[in-house]
Order: sequence, then C-alpha cells, then structure tokens
Amino acid sequence: NPDLSFQGKNILITAGPTQEAIDPVRYISNHSSGKMGIALAEKAAERGAKVTLILGPTALKPKPHPNIKIIPVTSALDMFEASQNHHNEAKVVIFCAAVADYRSEKPSVEKIKKKDSALQIKLVKNPDIAKTLGANKKQGQLHIGFALETDEGVLSAENKLKEKNFDFVVLNSLLDSEAGFQKDTNQVTILSKNKENIKTPVMSKELLAIQLLDRIGSLLENKFDN
Ligand code: PMT
Repeated sequence: NPDLSFQGKNILITAGPTQEAIDPVRYISNHSSGKMGIALAEKAAERGAKVTLILGPTALKPKPHPNIKIIPVTSALDMFEASQNHHNEAKVVIFCAAVADYRSEKPSVEKIKKKDSALQIKLVKNPDIAKTLGANKKQGQLHIGFALETDEGVLSAENKLKEKNFDFVVLNSLLDSEAGFQKDTNQVTILSKNKENIKTPVMSKELLAIQLLDRIGSLLENKFDN
C-alpha cells in the first residue's frame, strides 16, 4: 500500500542555488545542485503531498509527477517573491535552498570591461527568506530549515533554529566528506527546539528525504513535543 500520509497537504520547498548578476555575463552563486531539495519534492509527492518546488538555477529536475509544480527562479529576490506568494497555503515549508546572502547593488547593464586596475563591486544584503517567513509562521504550520557550515556548526545551526523560527534544522557540515553540495549522499545533524541532537549515518539523499518526511509527518500528528 502506498504511504499517503501527506495526502492533499501543500508543501513548499526551496531548493538549489541562487544566482546574483554582476553584469549580463557574470554572477555570484554557490555549489548547490538542488539534489537534496529535489529528493524531498519527489518523496513528498509520492506520499500524496501537493508540492510547490521553488528551484534556483540547476540542470536537474524532479521526475515528472502530477503533484509537483516547479517554479524556476534565478536570484534570491525572485526566490523571496515566489516563496511569499506560496507561503500562506503551505502546511509545511522546507528551506533547502542555498540562498546567496549578498547581491551586487547595481548589476551593470553592459559587460564590464577588463581594466588595468582592481575591480570593486559593492554587495548589498539579500532578504533572509526563511527568517522573514518564519516571523509570519501560520498557526499549525511547520518550518524546516537547513544549515550549511564549514565546521561542526552546532552552535550556528542552533542560532539559525531560533532566529528563523524553525521547528527543526538539518545541519550539513562540509567536514563530512560524503555530505553537502552536489553529492548523491548526505550526512546531517538534526537539531530541534527541545534540544534533540541526532547525527545520521551517511545515506542517499533520497533516504534522508524519506527520514525527514517521517519526522515531519510525526510532528504533524503531534507525536513530538516540539
Ligand atoms: O543542492 P545540493 O547540491 O543537494 O546540496 C544540498 C545543500 C547542501 C545545499 C542543502 O542540504 C543545505 O544545506 N541547504 C542550506 C544551505 C544554506 O545556504 O544554509 P545557510 O546556513 O546559509 O542558511 C540557513 C537557512 O536559511 C537555510 O534553510 C536557507 O535556505 C535559509 N536562507 C538563508 C539565507 C537567505 N537569504 N534566505 C534563506 O531562506
């Protein structure tokens, strides 16, 4: 029997990188492939959820499924707008995207010419999508965040958990060799409001998606005191 525990529930997922234009030719971005968020979208759709996947620029896509609607975006500002548009209707929001924290203040309309001197580009802050939506979390809505750190990162991730009003946060550390950007596998530490701290073994992103959805499903049924 198929597991239809998310039947009819709206799930909003952000995934992939964002690209911040410097000029028509160049941009600032990061190494996210979208694999983790895409795995979450596929597994949630298989459980009957209606998934809105706000996907930054990547060559990858989920397997076609009638329950997955993809909204392709480029920049953090685009992702912010699309996320705001779909926030109200979502029962669960998963912030898996690696959003650029900064963008060029004024992208050049023309390709910037090479000069003899150094080039300075002023960067301004992008909105924090998870934090802004977290401040407007609806009654009964769940917000799940990811955090990417280059060290152990538990303290930073706990700060993000509080600051962004997540129900739990999934910490990726670049110290773990089979985890993070681009890989087919992941290894994470799950930190929740009630001080849970669970480090998973290395597993495929698909299996991790299944386990995260199991946890979300339990929260929806109030099995966890969270
Ligand atoms: O896409 P893959 O190649 O499969 O890689 C998966 C992943 C490593 C990108 C993913 O598992 C992951 O860890 N995503 C979060 C990456 C990140 O940017 O983390 P952060 O610690 O900078 O951000 C914390 C949280 O705030 C995240 O939920 C992020 O989506 C959110 N955020 C951050 C900045 C911003 N301006 N808006 C946000 O919503």
